[in-house]
Amino acid sequence: MSEFDGRGAIVTGGASGIGAATAARLAAEGALVAVVDRDAAGAFALAESIPNAIGIDCDVRDTAQIDATVAQVVAEFGDCSLLVNNAGVGDLRPMHTVDDNLWHRLLDVNLTGTFSMMRAVLPHMLAAQRGAIVNNASLSGLAPTRNEAAYSAAKAGVIALTKSGALEYGPHVRVNCVAPGFISTPLTIAFQQMPDTFEPIRDSIPLQRMGTAEDVAEVIAFLCSERAAYVTGQTLIVDGGLGLPQAGTDAALAALFAKFSAQG
Ligand SMILES: NC(=O)c1ccc[n+]([C@@H]2O[C@H](COP(=O)([O-])OP(=O)(O)OC[C@H]3O[C@@H](n4cnc5c(N)ncnc54)[C@H](O)[C@@H]3O)[C@@H](O)[C@H]2O)c1
Repeated sequence: MSEFDGRGAIVTGGASGIGAATAARLAAEGALVAVVDRDAAGAFALAESIPNAIGIDCDVRDTAQIDATVAQVVAEFGDCSLLVNNAGVGDLRPMHTVDDNLWHRLLDVNLTGTFSMMRAVLPHMLAAQRGAIVNNASLSGLAPTRNEAAYSAAKAGVIALTKSGALEYGPHVRVNCVAPGFISTPLTIAFQQMPDTFEPIRDSIPLQRMGTAEDVAEVIAFLCSERAAYVTGQTLIVDGGLGLPQAGTDAALAALFAKFSAQG
């Protein structure tokens, strides 16, 4: 018997990166997985490559598509008790240059899409009296990053939404989120192609490497599982320690220690 045998799971943004790794991870533990993405070709291709999976063409900004997705999952799997809200988009530019369209796009996909999907799935979880929801926030939702005002605000909203869900839907439904740091996926490829920018970031991470999509998928699977049966409303940071070094202080203290050590 595997951890998620017979459980129907929706993974949004499942065609790529963290979502694809999560879909594969849940399927490996027996879940029936719906790979949900607006990249339909990617969703269908991934679903073909993992056991007991279906691909669904769905943009999380479209509530009619969300309702149809949930109805299809319930009809095909007979269960919809695992939800991973992972679809997300980012952008980098100073706050005063973010126009209305961009602001709404970042909020609509990252925050409203998460809310809409929770709203559609929760009635099924309540009827079944079981459910686990894991939202993919970001370290930027806890410590906003430069030129990511809309993204950071949306991810902070995801963290608040997670806590609201945990308050309202216990005891049968748990709601948690992950806050990844710097993870190697198509979303961060531009950084990785700029070694002068990328290497200092990597070197400042206590675990000395970028995260992988599988690092995050593993934590999402844990939060979905009964191993996390008494965990709800939490934000689990998956960043290799990236958020720990204090700006300006960490390198100075390391240099100070090296100086004292050299003096014996
Ligand atoms: N990669 C990182 O360093 C990092 C760090 C923190 C948080 N995150 C979060 O992790 C999640 C996954 O990111 P990733 O790095 O795997 O990115 P990715 O670009 O590889 O995957 C994102 C997926 O979401 C899908 N998507 C985008 N808009 C959608 C929409 N409107 N409807 C349905 N699907 C949509 C894309 O088609 C894509 O398949 C995002 O929410 C992102 O904000 C990533």
